[in-house]
Amino acid sequence: MLNSGGRKTVHLLGEIVVTGPKSLIAGNWKMHRGGAHGVALAKAVLAAASKETLACDLLLCPPAVVLAAVSHVVDGTDIATGGQDCHAENTGAHTGDISASMLAGAGATYVIVGHSERRTDHRETDADVRAKAEAAQKIGMTAIICIGETGAERDSGQTLAVLSRQIAGSVPAGATAAHTVIAYEPVWAIGTGRTPTVAEVAEAHAHIRKELGGKVDDPDSVRILYGGSVKADNARELLAVANVNGALVGGASLDAASFVAIARTAP
Ligand code: PGA
Repeated sequence: MLNSGGRKTVHLLGEIVVTGPKSLIAGNWKMHRGGAHGVALAKAVLAAASKETLACDLLLCPPAVVLAAVSHVVDGTDIATGGQDCHAENTGAHTGDISASMLAGAGATYVIVGHSERRTDHRETDADVRAKAEAAQKIGMTAIICIGETGAERDSGQTLAVLSRQIAGSVPAGATAAHTVIAYEPVWAIGTGRTPTVAEVAEAHAHIRKELGGKVDDPDSVRILYGGSVKADNARELLAVANVNGALVGGASLDAASFVAIARTAP
């Protein structure tokens, strides 16, 4: 089975043929580019992306206040939109929160859950993240579930154990590949300009793929994104790693040219 991205890509690495789902390049704008600036960025991405044929799917995750406007800009194109977080309930007395169905009403088909900044700033636990993912998946949205170790956890050799624990706790049981994306984002690589080595990325992604077995109906079809200081000049190398099916891009997604330059490197 294929995920919502459709087509499979084939990577030829020597004699080994590695197949995987179509790449997804997602821009996480975080708390940047509200209002007219967000609309302008969406228009610039659309203009740059329309000039060429990209091998990947594109996704824009703007701040919630500009989500409907960004969805309007890309309406009828191949570019999707997503929220950066959602509440675990559909409606209710939750001042300041936004539900998955509200995001869907603003045109979003994806939502990021469990980003490390939410886990840290809002003390979100794996159980919170799982409930949010479930809420999104229940209404047919795709949840981008973020996991990743801190620098201290990597230094003490706990990376794979942390990833196992986060997958066990954050991915809803019985989730379908079509509505599940995992983003591996080492916390120490986010916004720092530092990235893991290709070997470290390969090890983490292979481990995540293995751990998804038993949790998701078709683990091979789940897109596993790498995130953390992805830039135009390192994207080709990172996206070529086995089991890397795209990228979650923060800082470099705030510039249309650099975001599309990253997308251009997707196999
Ligand atoms: P970065 O952020 O690309 O700025 O490191 C990635 C993320 O936090 O999703």
